[in-house]
Amino acid sequence: MKKRIAVVPGDGIGIEVTREAVKVLQAVGQAAGHEFALTEFDWGADRYLREGVSFPKDAREMLRRDFDAILLGALGDPRVPDMKHAADILFGMRFGLDLYANIRPVKLLHPRLTPLRDRGVDDINFVIFRENTEGLYVGMGGNFKKGTKDEVAVQEDLNTYKGVERIIRFAFDYARRHGRKRLLMSDKSNALAFGHDLWQRLFHELQPQYPEIESRHLYVDNLAFQMVKNPAQFDVIVTCNMFGDILADLGASLVGGLGLAPSANVNPDGISMFEPVHGSAPKYAGQNVASPVAAILTVGMMLDHLGLGQEAQWIEDAVRAAIAEGQTARDLGGTLKTSEVGDWIANHLAKSPARARG
Ligand code: IPM
Ligand code: MN
Repeated sequence: MKKRIAVVPGDGIGIEVTREAVKVLQAVGQAAGHEFALTEFDWGADRYLREGVSFPKDAREMLRRDFDAILLGALGDPRVPDMKHAADILFGMRFGLDLYANIRPVKLLHPRLTPLRDRGVDDINFVIFRENTEGLYVGMGGNFKKGTKDEVAVQEDLNTYKGVERIIRFAFDYARRHGRKRLLMSDKSNALAFGHDLWQRLFHELQPQYPEIESRHLYVDNLAFQMVKNPAQFDVIVTCNMFGDILADLGASLVGGLGLAPSANVNPDGISMFEPVHGSAPKYAGQNVASPVAAILTVGMMLDHLGLGQEAQWIEDAVRAAIAEGQTARDLGGTLKTSEVGDWIANHLAKSPARARG
């Protein structure tokens, strides 16, 4: 099987972790006999500062036409304080390619990684579906009398019938396909009487179409509370863009930190993009100390999306082994460098007996 992957390392540690993610991707290709044709794009702060180009004009069409998936590292650089290039590139993909489902698994890979007392791997294993093309992220709004004491700033929260319906349906369909028994929709309809009332109505409309899935609702403040108090009750969570952003970081902290959190930005009818949840961490950039595990697990999500579920499982198994054997970077208490973690996982994957094909 041949897959064409656009690789966008981006900025900061994005460059280092993507190198390791690609190393693991190539190890999988070797082991499974797949060809991954990788094309790297230098979109990021350096290019932006040098040429004023963030997300090139033809990039959207080119990605759609020439690739099967996009692997992104991270974006953000202190030399671009307004994050203009990062917003152009990230939102250029999310909005421009209509990647409406942001999938962020919260899965504990080893009991020692959670800060919660007495919780094991079976207690923390759910998936957050974050609406990824609307809400507070659309950039609608403006200001009046900016820079004065009379300043007014308005940021609109856009919720459309189409957008809300499709993400709730996507989450239900995912639950059905993956044998997940419970789905929770979270909003703040007790305060946001227009936008989130739409979420309520569409949720109630869709519920009867999925009778085998036990579905319910929690306000987002209560959900945050419950995620810490009893994460075992969750299976699939679906929520809006802003809440999904926040809850995904909370979820990452439940399973050992941002160094472990992968994500997928999916358009089920087009190309999709895969990125770790963490940012570019300028403080650690260029030091070879960041953990590449989130980026490596992100490759797993990408393979799963491309129909290579078995290969995705190999990656997760190899990551679990690295954690169990303490072969990690310092974020998880290990002493390995970024590149050494990548080497270890790629090697483990290559030589594991499960890889020997019949
Ligand atoms: C994320 C990030 C982005 C977001 C930022 C960098 C705009 O926090 O992917 O979670 O808020 O979506
Ligand atoms: Mn975030």
